[in-house]
Amino acid sequence: MQLVLKVNGESKHWTIAPGDLLLDVLRREAYFGVKRGCETGECGACTVLLNGKPINSCLMFAAQAEGGEILTIEGVAQRDKLDAIQEAFLEHGAVQCGYCTPGMILSAKALLAEHPDPTEAQVREALAGNFCRCTGYLKPVEAVLAAAKVYRSLAAKEQKRSQKAKRQRQKSKP
Ligand code: FES
Ligand code: FES
Repeated sequence: MQLVLKVNGESKHWTIAPGDLLLDVLRREAYFGVKRGCETGECGACTVLLNGKPINSCLMFAAQAEGGEILTIEGVAQRDKLDAIQEAFLEHGAVQCGYCTPGMILSAKALLAEHPDPTEAQVREALAGNFCRCTGYLKPVEAVLAAAKVYRSLAAKEQKRSQKAKRQRQKSKP
């Protein structure tokens, strides 16, 4: 069967078997940032965003993603520029072996899209499905809170910039 979807903003047409798991299809297509862990929905290593929501790709048939938009860790940086969450993970020592990191970053991204100013409890809850054997969770939580600040300051700058552009357009109207 054919699967049509978007991955990291690019349209894809893949031939799959009806029983193929999304995890297997993504890795077959060289999205190796989608990690294979427990394969039972417990560790979160295989997390991707489907239409903005974190899902365990080991628990989902690829066919269920038909028409959807998937974000994997490969699509988080913009060209050579790391996302603020990725920067914060590096700065805060939240990346050790790195196996859980793609899933954690994607869970954090979904959280910040919904809650730009999350509490520590909200961050912990958002990361609860992503097991980490190395960091003890403190550093990833600190990193997400720091990234949230960066996101908010970028959003404030963008808002100022667009207000200024709007004022200039109004002034230049005859
Ligand atoms: S590999 Fe999917 S949750 Fe562990
Ligand atoms: S950094 Fe090793 S499992 Fe999280």
